[in-house]
Order: sequence, then C-alpha cells, then structure tokens
Amino acid sequence: MLAELSPALIAEVQRAAKLLASKQRICILTGAGISAESGIPTFRDKQTGLWENYVAEDLATPDAFARDPKLVWSWYQWRRQLVADKAPNPAHDALAQWQYHAQSSNQQLTLITQNVDDLHEQAGSTVIHLHGNLWSNRCSQCETPYQGQPSQGQSRGSYNSEDSINFDEGLISCSHCGGYVRPDIVWFGESLPVQAWQTAEESAANCEVFICIGTSSLVYPAAGLAQLAKQNGAKIIEINPDPTPNSIIDITLAEKAGMVMPLLIQKITAL
Ligand code: APR
Repeated sequence: MLAELSPALIAEVQRAAKLLASKQRICILTGAGISAESGIPTFRDKQTGLWENYVAEDLATPDAFARDPKLVWSWYQWRRQLVADKAPNPAHDALAQWQYHAQSSNQQLTLITQNVDDLHEQAGSTVIHLHGNLWSNRCSQCETPYQGQPSQGQSRGSYNSEDSINFDEGLISCSHCGGYVRPDIVWFGESLPVQAWQTAEESAANCEVFICIGTSSLVYPAAGLAQLAKQNGAKIIEINPDPTPNSIIDITLAEKAGMVMPLLIQKITAL
C-alpha cells in the first residue's frame, strides 16, 4: 500500500498524524466517499440499472414520496438490496481501531456520519447518524416506528444478494393510522434528528481537530460543522481524492480513504 502513495502524500499523512496525536478532542465527519470502496455508489454518482433515468435528489424528498410513494419505496428497496451484502473497507476498520485505541490514550473521538449504511457499526465503531438509517422504517404520517416482518425491510439481515427485493410488493400501511410506511431517513428539506445534531454541533464546536472524510461538503447543515469547528479554533483535515468547495482546510490528504486511513491511524497510534 505504501508503495502506491507518493512521498509527498506520505509526508502529509505524517504531518496529520503528528497533529492528531498531540490533541485530545477530535471530531470526524464521514460521507458517502468512505463507503465507495465497499462498493456503495456515492450519492452524486450517476444512478445505474433500473434507476439510471432518475436523480437521487429527486427521489429523496418528502414531495417525491407524497407524489409517488411506491416509486420512492421501490428505490429504497433497491438501495437496501445494493447495500445488504457490502462490508466495511480498510477506512472503516481503521477508524474503529482508532476509537478503540483512544479509550486508553485519553483521546475523545466523536464519529459522525451522513451515511445511512451501517458499515461503521459493522466495523465496530460507535457513530452518530445525522441522516438516519437505511434499515429503519417509520410511518410517514404519525411517525410510529415500523416493526414489520423481516421481509418488509425491518433489518439489514433480511436482505442479501440472493434474496431480491420484490418491486411489486405493495406499500406498507401503518397499523396505528393507516399512513404509508417510509424509510426512516432524513430527506432533502427535512430536519435532522435533534439529539444527533446537538451532539454533532457540540463536538464540532469543542474539538481541536475536525476531519472530513469522503464528503462533498455540499449538503447543509452537516457541511457547516467544519466551519463551526474552524470558527472555534480547530484545525481541519480533509481526506478526499477530489477537490471540494471546502476552503478552510489546513491539511488535505488527496487520496482514497481506504488507502490513507490505515496509514494515518497506524502513525497516530505509533506516536
Ligand atoms: N475516499 C474518500 N472520498 C471519496 C472516495 C474515496 N474512496 N470516493 C469518492 N469520494 C468523495 C467524492 O470525491 C465526493 O467528494 O466522496 C464525496 C461524496 O460526495 P457525495 O456523494 O456528495 O456524498 P456526501 O457528501 O456524503 O453527501 C451528503 O447528501 O445526498 C445527500 O443525504 C445524502 O448523506 C448524503 C449527503
């Protein structure tokens, strides 16, 4: 792996590791890019297959669900199927390892994700989900959590690559009010879960270093967390192979997270 990283990048990783090892309070925000190497397309990648004529931003909205609930439900069933057999990659594993190590090294690591997959948890991390969880459902009207049959999308275990989703399956109705059941995900235009957002804001405002991993930094309010951290004196590190509009970065590690994170964590824990 080292051979694939340029000497300049390795030097930047070393600089980032030194900074991180010298600080106590670290806040980490991950986005779709961290799961890309696990085979989950990022949100702004072009849709494929059945969904190539749709734009994700047009499906992940309350208006879209109100207009055509079956279309939106089917898209999420497809996304669940896509994610069901995916596993954490070296970036998820490295973060979990760092969190474990931090318990004995007096560091406070807060891991926040915009992702609705559960790859951080699968890797062993404790994580705050800002945008909900792909494997949960709730009523679109009365918000009661839906505890349905496994075949109806209650948990990740009910989907695997062999067990294809039935796209003709009717919508599920809430047993309390009759409203349609929807994924428990924060759609465009909706508010973030209050507790998760409050914890994220506090952690960003109080951290000494804020790390953005695999996020385009386009979607607010999550994208504002790095700015909040910066205003409060934190250094900002970004890990992303492509440039982003984030203009407040102190250290850029311009490479895939799965390549950089294992080396970064190895260096931090060795210091
Ligand atoms: N390692 C690190 N970063 C990567 C990798 C990788 N292997 N592959 C791609 N990226 C970067 C891309 O360059 C891009 O900047 O990941 C970013 C993914 O951006 P988006 O698809 O916009 O994902 P994200 O920032 O998580 O989107 C935020 O918007 O659509 C909503 O709710 C959805 O949570 C999502 C939110």
